[in-house]
Amino acid sequence: MSYGIVTASYIGASVLFILALGGLSQPETARRGNFYGIIGMAMALAATIVGIVTNHHFILFAGLIIGGGIGLMLAKRIAMTQMPELVAILHSLVGMAAVLVGFANFMGNDAALSGAARTVHDAETYVGILIGALTFSGSVVAFLKLSARISGKPLLLPGRHWLNLLLLLAAFWLGGKFIHLSAAGGGSLPLIAMTLIALAFGVHMVMAIGGADMPVVISMLNSYSGWAAAATGFMLNNDLLIVVGALVGSSGAILSYIMCRAMNRRFIAVIAGGFGTSGGVAATDSQAEAGEVVAIEAEAVADLLVNAREVMIIPGYGMAVAQAQHTVSEITRKLREKKVNVRFGIHPVAGRMPGHMNVLLAEAKVPYDIVFELDEINDDFPHVDVSVVIGANDIVNPAAQEVPGSPIAGMPVLECWKGKTTVVLKRSMATGYAGVANPLFYKENTRMLFGDARQSLDKVLKNLG
Ligand code: TAP
Repeated sequence: MSYGIVTASYIGASVLFILALGGLSQPETARRGNFYGIIGMAMALAATIVGIVTNHHFILFAGLIIGGGIGLMLAKRIAMTQMPELVAILHSLVGMAAVLVGFANFMGNDAALSGAARTVHDAETYVGILIGALTFSGSVVAFLKLSARISGKPLLLPGRHWLNLLLLLAAFWLGGKFIHLSAAGGGSLPLIAMTLIALAFGVHMVMAIGGADMPVVISMLNSYSGWAAAATGFMLNNDLLIVVGALVGSSGAILSYIMCRAMNRRFIAVIAGGFGTSGGVAATDSQAEAGEVVAIEAEAVADLLVNAREVMIIPGYGMAVAQAQHTVSEITRKLREKKVNVRFGIHPVAGRMPGHMNVLLAEAKVPYDIVFELDEINDDFPHVDVSVVIGANDIVNPAAQEVPGSPIAGMPVLECWKGKTTVVLKRSMATGYAGVANPLFYKENTRMLFGDARQSLDKVLKNLG
């Protein structure tokens, strides 16, 4: 294949990736966006295999078959609720690839390079390995936290900010040493030392982040994996990888910014770690338990709903676990037939990944025009007759406003307690992801419908008449 055709395919693939990102920004167009992404990736792979790779085809196809097979198996096996941890571990692979390509680049050092070209080449290798290593270790820790293999609580080492600063300065100093030594054919020692430092930095950075701030970390690692891919593109002289890496890197950075704004956090405060935990306390059980828990049965909930004029449904992670979205959709349809105004209130970090609830509701064919973001509907709660909280906890926790030292203090929450009645569906009195007790459950106008959300809602649906 001529070089011109490869370049044209790469430009075509880049355009498709941009269209994919555009499509993924709305649930209505997400399917189309995914489709553009698939075509773009197929085009990019075909052009690279046919036009760029000149030998070792056997290894290439063996890799493609093994990698593709594992990808296919994972996609089939993974439950929707395991998606965030899958994304985290996939990010770690991008980081690892950047490290391996960096070391291969270093070991196959081109002796013909000298002067500025040599310095640029060495700097690319160094930065690529640095970003790759911290993406790798940070993503592995995020995977362990998200899959609950280790505690989600922040690990706050004494003097952690100084430690971070020290690691950063050491990485700069080693970079200077590496570029100097590499020109004379050496440099492996500073390169290995920096790799170890970057690995330690990635672990420390993510270990220090508390439960409720994980969304920011996920999008941040997403961004890092993009920059690691772009660095790999520089090392391999592959324009498409640079473009795609930059797209992923910058869209991840924008998403991190959006997440920070949604959580009312400063970006630097989150990555420095331990936000909201310094000397603070979780809303303790005694603070939360200022009242009694009142249980309710499904029949009574059905009664409340058919007699209401305004209903607000607030879905959370438990709806995803229970796979209750189809029953929710059916209940919505029935209530709307009975002229009840049903709306959905979506918190930006509900569930375990950005847009989690929107995707589930779209899958269950809930009309888009009754699904609202927190900002759009939070002031409407005083006019709501019944709020139905389905497997949500942290996102409706008044402690965010009422307990200054709480780990979720300052995070915007859906103020359902301001409505007439709130029905909370969950299985027990357990806390949510952030591990913070929830005073909502003890409020006078709250009713608890205990049990698996899907089973409870099936009973509610049966009693709607
Ligand atoms: P959570 O606060 O995690 O609460 C979910 C609740 O669902 C739990 O209290 C659980 O209580 C209940 N539940 C679980 N399975 C259930 C089932 N089968 N039926 C009924 N209830 C069930 O969820 P949330 O309110 O959606 O808040 C999200 C949290 O995750 C935030 O802290 C957020 O920061 C964090 N987070 C979000 C993301 C993104 S990007 N969205 C990523 C990582 C972390 P029981 O055990 O008593 O049933």
